[in-house]
Amino acid sequence: MNILEIIEAKKQGRQLSTEQIEFAVNGFTGDEIPVYQMSALLMAIWFQGMTAEETAALTGVMLRSGEELDTSGLGGPSADKHSTGGVGDKVSLLLAPLAAACGLKVPMLSGRGLGHTGGTLDKLEAIPGYTIHMDNERFLQLTSDLGCAIIGQSGNIAPADGRIYALRDVSATVDCVPLITASIMSKKLAAGPETIVIDLKTGSGAFMRDLDQARALAEALVAVGKAYGRRMSVIFSDMDQPLGKAVGHANETIEAFDALRPCQREQAPQDLVVLTEELVADMVRVAGLQPDRESALAQVRQVWDAGQAFDAMLAWVAAQGGRLDPARADFGLDVAPVALELTAPQEGWLAGINCRQVGLSLADLGGARRQVEDPLDLTAGITFHPAIGDKLTKGDPIATIMCRDKSRAQAAADRILAALTFSREPVSPRDLILDRLA
Ligand code: URA
Repeated sequence: MNILEIIEAKKQGRQLSTEQIEFAVNGFTGDEIPVYQMSALLMAIWFQGMTAEETAALTGVMLRSGEELDTSGLGGPSADKHSTGGVGDKVSLLLAPLAAACGLKVPMLSGRGLGHTGGTLDKLEAIPGYTIHMDNERFLQLTSDLGCAIIGQSGNIAPADGRIYALRDVSATVDCVPLITASIMSKKLAAGPETIVIDLKTGSGAFMRDLDQARALAEALVAVGKAYGRRMSVIFSDMDQPLGKAVGHANETIEAFDALRPCQREQAPQDLVVLTEELVADMVRVAGLQPDRESALAQVRQVWDAGQAFDAMLAWVAAQGGRLDPARADFGLDVAPVALELTAPQEGWLAGINCRQVGLSLADLGGARRQVEDPLDLTAGITFHPAIGDKLTKGDPIATIMCRDKSRAQAAADRILAALTFSREPVSPRDLILDRLA
């Protein structure tokens, strides 16, 4: 086999065999195929695409490049969620204990934020003492005993994806459905859940800007998951405005855990509540614990309101070394003081938000990374008050900016204001759940 023939075949739009894909990926990760030939192959894939069989084969090769967890001994149906990422997306922090309280086993391997999107691991590290490092045996034991555990993805989960992703990042080949699919699914399959629910976000704060692109990605993700024997479902959700009100790390963790308090479901930000309920209900239904969406939703609300999910959260966090004080409104987490209140400069309806810019304003505060190695201020954050469709009068609160450095707060406020559009006419609120695919 020869890499030039493989590049040529893909350039001409021909289907690659599993052996050819294996040869290219393993050759690249084994340093036998140089970066320039792998880049050429990735670009040929970008232009010609891949069939469902090729995408499944690429996923399998990347999956087998590292370790795979065995979830067969967890003592219950295993399920996980993957979000394509957004601003204020703290759903995993509620979803894992809710799903655990419903009887699922949720072994969650999470990542860090980069650019305008946040990462679950960074939010968890805002909890004093919480450890994201653990060997697989203990991780699976905790998941079995408590129903959920969330740790960082070790370097040995789909390492081929790490190498290929780094190359895609510098060769303009990130935005390619089969490559995104193989990248996401190789990592998700490695954690071993039988059911995978995808939160596919679209809009100005998401990776996928429009619903058509998102649909193509969803179909590819479901096809690969099913090819590997997983139960799959997708919820398409709007990411044209931050999810919930908190954007940051400590403040998002507080918002998520506070929402889980018994009887807090109706007081918490409703977009966060609705999306979380729908995703957990899908996990419960698709995993076979409930026959339909209505009964699954009823079970999720029952464990939420009765405080079982809150207790599951406290047990999981404590087992991973986290010190929370549930008697305090802030759970004992460190949050920076308010540095600036941004208010509406004019009267009108909030018509649009460039949500990516709201995410980037956290980087202005030192709370998001521009480069992978950047240190983070986990105490910095923003409370974003209005939603699209709200009527504002001059002086109404738009954003409360928490940060230890006032000059940084001003830069964030300027960016947020520039990201907003106002209308003199009434504007309809946006739908949160845009579509579904099972
Ligand atoms: N997320 C991933 O894990 N991989 C991609 O290629 C894109 C988003």
